[in-house]
Amino acid sequence: MPTAPVLLAGHPVHRMGFGAMQLPGTGVFGPPKDHDAAIAVLRAARSAGVNHIDTAQFYGPDVANDLIKEALFPYDDELVLVSKVGAARGADGGWLPAQRPEELRSGVETNLRSLGVDQVHVVNLRRHPEGTVPLDEQLGEMAALRDEGLIGGIGLSNVTLDEYRTAQATTEVACVQNAYNLIERAEQDLFDACVEDGTPFVPFFPLGSAFVAESPVLNDPVVQATAARMDVTAPQVALAWLLAIAPRVLLIPGTSALAHLEENLAAADVVLDEEALSALADVRP
Ligand SMILES: NC(=O)c1ccc[n+]([C@@H]2O[C@H](COP(=O)([O-])OP(=O)(O)OC[C@H]3O[C@@H](n4cnc5c(N)ncnc54)[C@H](OP(=O)(O)O)[C@@H]3O)[C@@H](O)[C@H]2O)c1
Repeated sequence: MPTAPVLLAGHPVHRMGFGAMQLPGTGVFGPPKDHDAAIAVLRAARSAGVNHIDTAQFYGPDVANDLIKEALFPYDDELVLVSKVGAARGADGGWLPAQRPEELRSGVETNLRSLGVDQVHVVNLRRHPEGTVPLDEQLGEMAALRDEGLIGGIGLSNVTLDEYRTAQATTEVACVQNAYNLIERAEQDLFDACVEDGTPFVPFFPLGSAFVAESPVLNDPVVQATAARMDVTAPQVALAWLLAIAPRVLLIPGTSALAHLEENLAAADVVLDEEALSALADVRP
């Protein structure tokens, strides 16, 4: 793994990590299309040096965590597992808010059980965009969970710059995980604040997400032209750009395919030249 490690809640992680959201079935619900392939992807990622895996008990639910445990348990000391709380799944696969402090606690407890650990290294408080539970109550519960040793660090997800600042004033923030990629830069102010503070920023949807039929990132003409000129692929351009723009950006591209995993990991070796960086700086929706 060529990228130098970055500290995440005190643990050194390589900047190229792995997101487990693509491992369950369609819509992040139910069992994987190909169980053995999912196990193979996780083992190949870890064998290649990936030591930062992003997951959630509500991916499946339980499917992503069960696969991680099946593939990698007993975990080695260098593997850092990051999960998130704040959501649950309905019987039909719908995404439900689970934002109240007692729901955050029970979310951490279900992660501990399904991952088979006494402590999750980092747990992101994933705020619901229309949530009505006050942030300070949520942070109080997250801090209690950390003080009790059930989580190692508190991360934030789907937060605004104001919420990040409020959290920072209350507690130590291990990382921030919001949507951010070449096309989706609505959270640029938050990204910039994290860069300035040295807070690890973990962009989700680095490749443009699986929730859209055609990725706006991978299909962008500048991304494609850059990939062709540099003899790399569009996903590699998208990931290499994120690695290039700030030193504490940690990547968790999601895939259920071994070939895509290998392609994504190889992006850590892609060094974008000045022409590429300048062209990509201006890419917009
Ligand atoms: N905090 C939050 O609210 C939140 C929200 C969303 C995601 N996340 C986390 O962020 C991670 C990354 O986001 P994401 O998985 O949603 O989106 P993403 O990484 O932007 O894109 C995943 C999609 O790209 C495809 N893909 C992956 N590598 C590819 C390649 N080399 N070439 C072509 N297609 C490729 C995947 O399909 P294949 O499976 O076929 O490769 C999948 O359809 C997730 O896994 C999850 O851990 C967090």
